[in-house]
Amino acid sequence: MKLKVLIVAGDGIGPEVTAEGARILRSVAELGGYEFEIREALIGGVAIKAEGTPLPPATLDAALDSDAVLLGAVGGNEFNSLPPDRRPEAGLLQIRQALGGFANLRPAFAHPALAVNSPLKPEVIDGADILFVRELLGGLYFGEPRVWEKEAGYAWNTMRYTRDEVIRVARIAFELAQKRRKKLTSVDKANVLEVSQLWRATVTELARQYPDVTLEHQYVDAMAMHLMNTPRNYDVVLTENLFGDILSDESGVITGSLGMLPSATIGGHVNLYEPIHGSAPDIAGKGLANPLGAILTVAMLLRHSANLEQDAQAIETAVRKVLEQGYRTADLARTEKDKKMVLSTQEMGQRVHQTLNEIIDKRQALHAV
Ligand code: IPM
Ligand code: MN
Repeated sequence: MKLKVLIVAGDGIGPEVTAEGARILRSVAELGGYEFEIREALIGGVAIKAEGTPLPPATLDAALDSDAVLLGAVGGNEFNSLPPDRRPEAGLLQIRQALGGFANLRPAFAHPALAVNSPLKPEVIDGADILFVRELLGGLYFGEPRVWEKEAGYAWNTMRYTRDEVIRVARIAFELAQKRRKKLTSVDKANVLEVSQLWRATVTELARQYPDVTLEHQYVDAMAMHLMNTPRNYDVVLTENLFGDILSDESGVITGSLGMLPSATIGGHVNLYEPIHGSAPDIAGKGLANPLGAILTVAMLLRHSANLEQDAQAIETAVRKVLEQGYRTADLARTEKDKKMVLSTQEMGQRVHQTLNEIIDKRQALHAV
C-alpha cells in the first residue's frame, strides 16, 4: 500500500492539530508496513506572509500530485479587514475548487463518554449519529456575480445551482444512506428561494432510484431547531454549501465540542480532509486545541482514500477508549472530574497514539495465531 499525502497545516491551531494527525498517520503506516509519503506545504495566512498569496502554485501542484490532502485550518484576525478574495479563506476555497471534491462528509457522533459535555440533555443526544453531506463547490461560496462596491455601499453574492450539481452530491448522500439507517433529510429554503425549489425537485426525482431510502425535506430554519430538539431523528442530512456550513457547526453542540468533528471531501480528483473547526487564533500555540477532530479526519482519510477500513476503525476505537478513560482536552473539561484529566494537544495525540498501537498490536497478534 502506497499513499502520497500532502499536509497543509495552515494557520492558528492548524499546525498543532495536524501534527497529531500526522503522528497517527505515521504510526498506522509503520504498524501496517504501508508506504506513506508525507509532504508539507503552505496555505492560508502563513502562505500570504511567505509568498504573498493564500494558495501558492507550489502548494497546488503538490496537492494535485497527491492521493489525499490533509488540511488544518486557515484564517487569522490580522486579515479581517481584507476583502474575501485576498483573505486566507480564499486559499481554502481555491484548493477545494482545484481538487474538485463536491461532497463534504461531516459526521457528528455523540460519544457517550462526552454526554455531559453537551449542553443538551443526555437523553436527547444519546445515540445521535448524523452524517452531513454538504455540497462544497456551489451556492453562495462560488456563485457569480459577486460584488462589493465599497464606495457606492452595496454588495451581493449569488446562490446558484444547476440540476447536475444537485444530482451528483445527492447521489452520494443516497448511497451513503443506503449503507446506514436508510433515511435522508434534504435541507433547503424552498418556501422562499428558486434555487431551493430546484434542489428539492431534483432530490425528489432522484429518490425514485433509491426506493429503500426514506426521503424527507426540511426547511433550514426548522432544521436548525430540530437538530437541537431531536438529533436522533437524523441519519444522512443533505445540504447546499452555506446551510451545511452552518448546521455542521451547530452539530458541535451535539458532540460536546466543535473540536471533535472531522470531515472528508470526496468526488473530485484528489480527496481533501479537514477538521471542521477553524484556526482559533485565540488559543493557538498554547497546547489547548483538541486534536481529536484532526485525528478522526485521518481515520476518514484512510477509509476514503486508502480503503484501510480496519485502520480507520482502529483510530476511531482508540479515540473512544481514550475518552472512556476520562482523558480530556481543555474544550472538553466541563466537570470537576474532567478538569483533573485535561491533557495538552500533544499529550492527547500521544494517548491516542499509544492506544492505537495497542489495538493494532492485538489485531496483528490475533492474525498471527
Ligand atoms: C468550514 C469553514 C470554511 C467554510 C471557511 C474557513 C472558509 O468554516 O470548513 O466549515 O466556510 O467552508
Ligand atoms: Mn464552517
